[in-house]
Amino acid sequence: MDYQELYRLACEARLQAHNPYSHFAVGAALETRSGKVYVGCNVENASYGGCICAERTAFVKAISEGERDFVRIAIVGGKNGEPLQFCAPCGICRQFMAEFCSPSDFEVILYDPDGTPHAYTLGELIPLQFTEKDVL
Ligand code: THU
Repeated sequence: MDYQELYRLACEARLQAHNPYSHFAVGAALETRSGKVYVGCNVENASYGGCICAERTAFVKAISEGERDFVRIAIVGGKNGEPLQFCAPCGICRQFMAEFCSPSDFEVILYDPDGTPHAYTLGELIPLQFTEKDVL
């Protein structure tokens, strides 16, 4: 799927953000190898540690539906009622992606405020990964 279509889906998902504490809204669109897209938004909680990011929402939705083969994720974010800003995934989300995605092939697509896409490999965003190879 092209980057602009994923951008559109991520923006649509972002509208569902539950963010009464940060007032920062994030949307993500995760594409599987078969071309299906799972979207997610951030969902906050009065117990702040219970907040979940948009990226992990999308992954958890997909994984719980049996998906395991992912090609890329598009991420958009910004403060409520303000223009979008370049929004990179947090460290926990990068680690979460590393559990399921190839560092060399999986793409993370981030966007300038004007919607211009920038593609990164997961390995660029989280080098020297700690993964199952270290544990098993
Ligand atoms: N957030 C995301 O959803 N994804 C990120 O990668 C960065 C942060 C959310 C978490 C919280 O609800 C709000 O943005 C402010 O941190």
